[in-house]
Amino acid sequence: MEFVALKQQYALYKTEIDSAIQEVLDQGCFIMGPHIKKLERVLAEYVGTAHCIAVSSGTDSLQIALMALGIGPGDEVITVSFTWISSTEVIGLVGATPVFVDIDHTTYNIDISQIEQAITSKTKAILAVNLFGQMPDYRAINSIAEKYGLAVIEDGAQSFGATQHGQKSGSVSTVGSTSFFPAKSLGCYGDGGALFTNDEVLAAKMRAIRTHGGEQRHHHPYLGMNGRMDTLQAAILLAKFPHFPEEIAARQRLGAFYTDQLKDYCITPAIESGNTHVYAPYTIRIPQRDQLAQALKAEGIPTAVYYPKCVHEQPVFHYLNYARGSLPVAEQAADEVLSLPMHPWLTNAEQEQVVTAIKKFMTPLGTSNIRT
Ligand SMILES: Cc1ncc(COP(=O)(O)O)c(C=O)c1O
Repeated sequence: MEFVALKQQYALYKTEIDSAIQEVLDQGCFIMGPHIKKLERVLAEYVGTAHCIAVSSGTDSLQIALMALGIGPGDEVITVSFTWISSTEVIGLVGATPVFVDIDHTTYNIDISQIEQAITSKTKAILAVNLFGQMPDYRAINSIAEKYGLAVIEDGAQSFGATQHGQKSGSVSTVGSTSFFPAKSLGCYGDGGALFTNDEVLAAKMRAIRTHGGEQRHHHPYLGMNGRMDTLQAAILLAKFPHFPEEIAARQRLGAFYTDQLKDYCITPAIESGNTHVYAPYTIRIPQRDQLAQALKAEGIPTAVYYPKCVHEQPVFHYLNYARGSLPVAEQAADEVLSLPMHPWLTNAEQEQVVTAIKKFMTPLGTSNIRT
């Protein structure tokens, strides 16, 4: 059984993907070729923003957003610690200070009730992460941001294709960011990412920063970086994109099945009202996480832990002085989460095998193991 099925996906779309790659090879336009502009048009239309900027990764995209917003030394950015390290790393890379608030114990996303008390005169932005494939309540986040004059950055690396009150992930804040890392809901064949915004001035600045801060050839008003997406990756994404809506629908069907079958045995993903979830990945929570992972492995079922350690406990961020216990919900999640196989071609038989193995493990323990 595969955790994600990249080889299977390639085999299914091989004709389109191979011909897209061949087209780029024939054109010989590997940097900022015509596929980049086309991809930006297609993705902006899908997400529902005026602008899309294709970039080199979902980490560089976040850094470009912070740079374009003018965030740097002396500034604070409110964010979460239960996440992939990128979303905090970029705050450090621009010289600003990450300020952590805890997460909600049912969605693993930022605990919005804690944001206001973390705001100081130095706060410039809220960087929220759409963990595991659904968005926190951006109406509430945006209204706090408006009250204090802050920017909101949406790290949608795990939620491309998800919606909130009908709006697509990437479109609901000052700037939306996503990743096309191969295992994401929409993945390329290497590193890639994108930025989304309706703010024309910000879009122009992010475009410039992506290409060494240049507004036109040999004119560089900003400090920038080499943050361009490869033309080959844009062509691959364009070839895969027509299949994306049906892949999202399959993920949602499979996620609903897991939840229906497992909800009495462990904590299953809670979907906030107004949201759709893309389960990237599908993640459960149980106190006996490591033992369950071993039991599943023994039956040939792959699992993964995203993330076994919160960012505030990583050595690189010890200087921020967050002690063990300072973000208890995030720390508990890091101890208890387990992600199950999830990709659009997971078969009924495979899902049954996963569900049966979990029930077999949990039944002798009893449902008292569900701790909220
Ligand atoms: C929440 C989150 N933010 C940012 C990133 C960074 O994306 P990339 O790997 O494309 O740099 C990831 C990808 O793993 C992620 O999961």
